[in-house]
Formats: sequence, structure tokens, C-alpha cells
Amino acid sequence: MERLQQAIEKARAQREKGAGTVAKTTATKTRAKTTKASASTQAWQALAPIKITRPKLQKSRIVSVEGGPEAAPFDMLRTKVLHQAATNGWKRVAITSPDSNTGKSVTTGNLAFCLARQPDIKTLVFDFDLRRIGLTKALGQTPGHNMADILEGRVQFRDHALRYGEGVAFGLNNGPVRHSSEILQSKKTAEVLDAIEEEFAPDIMIFDLPPMMATDDNFGFLKYVDCALIVAGAEKTSLDKIDVAERQVAEITNVMGIVLNKCRYFDGAYGYEYGYY
Ligand SMILES: Nc1ncnc2c1ncn2[C@@H]1O[C@H](COP(=O)(O)OP(=O)(O)OP(=O)(O)O)[C@@H](O)[C@H]1O
Ligand SMILES: [Mg+2]
Repeated sequence: MERLQQAIEKARAQREKGAGTVAKTTATKTRAKTTKASASTQAWQALAPIKITRPKLQKSRIVSVEGGPEAAPFDMLRTKVLHQAATNGWKRVAITSPDSNTGKSVTTGNLAFCLARQPDIKTLVFDFDLRRIGLTKALGQTPGHNMADILEGRVQFRDHALRYGEGVAFGLNNGPVRHSSEILQSKKTAEVLDAIEEEFAPDIMIFDLPPMMATDDNFGFLKYVDCALIVAGAEKTSLDKIDVAERQVAEITNVMGIVLNKCRYFDGAYGYEYGYY
């Protein structure tokens, strides 16, 4: 009887010891998470703020700094992007198109400012069209460096990125870059992006890219993202081109969806009944 009692007590002691270990492990993990969160908060706060001028943005068709009827379609796009990202566990979203000039950079810029109005979301936005720097121009910025300096390790992202509000940071370019294709597909780029993601713990990362048909830049880079949005120009991009681009993107990453931009005619869909509510 006494031996049985001893065995029970031993088992109980072992269980309690085990439970203590689990509790300790959980507490350690929670502490590590909190430390990481506060480190990323500090990293965000240390970023230099971006200086934007509203008329300049408006001129570039960046219309979503504040909400309202003009921002409504982009708000809709933001919410769909966040929903799809959350549903599929996607974080890195590329913005590309079949042909040029469909409005990728304008869409990226508008999406960024819509996300900025979402207080609990942290967004990193990268101008990765290293040949034409469309997003940088649309935002009216003249940064000191370009993303190639970051991706090749000459400059730290934290010393280059420009923060808008609490939750959006832009990685922009000071001019076109040579060898953009080689830079974008390099292993170093993958490592730098991982390090940036680790430091800033963003909810979403958006990459403004060149068109699929213009260069091989995207073919090397798309493997580093989770999905891509394809922006087509209404009355410009043919269905054939959309089809080809969709297949090309799908060979490398997930197609999040297709945005039809520059529509002249609205039928009340996609936020154009905003004023009614
Ligand atoms: N919804 C829209 N309605 C009218 N014009 C637009 C719209 N979206 C973009 N544009 C205009 O189309 C032109 C191209 O836009 P943007 O630079 O965003 O295209 P892009 O696809 O990024 O071009 P690229 O292929 O050169 O990178 C700009 O003059 C822009 O103001
Ligand atoms: Mg562009």
C-alpha cells in the first residue's frame, strides 16, 4: 500500500514538474513575442516620415489619402486584398500587369494610403520597378538612395524607408537601376527581404513591379512573393494579353486577382454607389 502511495506521489510530482515546464515554456514564448513586437514598434517609430503634398498626389491620381467617393474602389480593393491574404496566409503581394501603363503604380499608391487608414495594419510598400521608378514619381519623392542599394547591402532599409502615419513605410528609388533583373532574382534579395520582414513584422508587403511583357525582371522575382495582382487597362489590355500574363504569373506564384483599371463607364459596382450611403 505504502509502495502504491509512493508511486502515485511520484507520478503526481512528475506531472506537476512537466506542467511547470509547459507553463514556463509558454511564458517564455509569450515574453519573446512581446519583446519582438516592441522591437518592431521601435523600428517603425525610428523611420523618417515621408513628406507628401496633396495637390501633387492628386495630380498623379493618388486619391485615397482620405476616404470618400474617389477612394471607394481602392478601399474595396484593400479589403479584398486583406481578406485574401488572411484566408490564404499570404503576406507578400506583387502588383504587375500584362502590358505597360495600365496603372500599377497608381494602384499601388492608392492601396498604400487605403491601408494607412486601417490602424491595426502594418504595410511595407516597395517600388520594385527598378527601371522606371513609377511609384516614386507618383508620390513626388526624391529619396537619397534606391532599392538596389538596399538589396545589395550598401544601405540599410531602416535608413532609407519613409514612413507615412503609423503603419505604412515606402521603399523608393532615386533613379533607374542597371542590372535590375539580376538584382531582383538574386539570393541576396531574398535574404534582405526576409531580414526586413523580420525587423518590421509587417502584415502585408506590396511590390510595384514592371509589366510581365516588358522585361524578365518579374520572372526572377515573383518566386519571392506569395501572390500577384494583375492590373489590366480597360480598352487597352487585350483579353489575350491578360490570359498570357495570368498563365505566366501562375507558373511562378499565386494569382490573387485581376484589377480592371481606367474604366470609363461605371454601373454601380465596386464602390461607385458610395454616395448613396
Ligand atoms: N484609373 C485611372 N484613370 C485614368 N488614368 C489613370 C488611371 N490609373 C492610372 N492612370 C494614368 O495612367 C498613367 C500610367 O499610370 P501608372 O504609372 O500607374 O501605370 P503603370 O502600369 O505603373 O506604368 P508602367 O508600366 O510604366 O510602370 C499615368 O499617367 C496615370 O496617371
Ligand atoms: Mg509603374
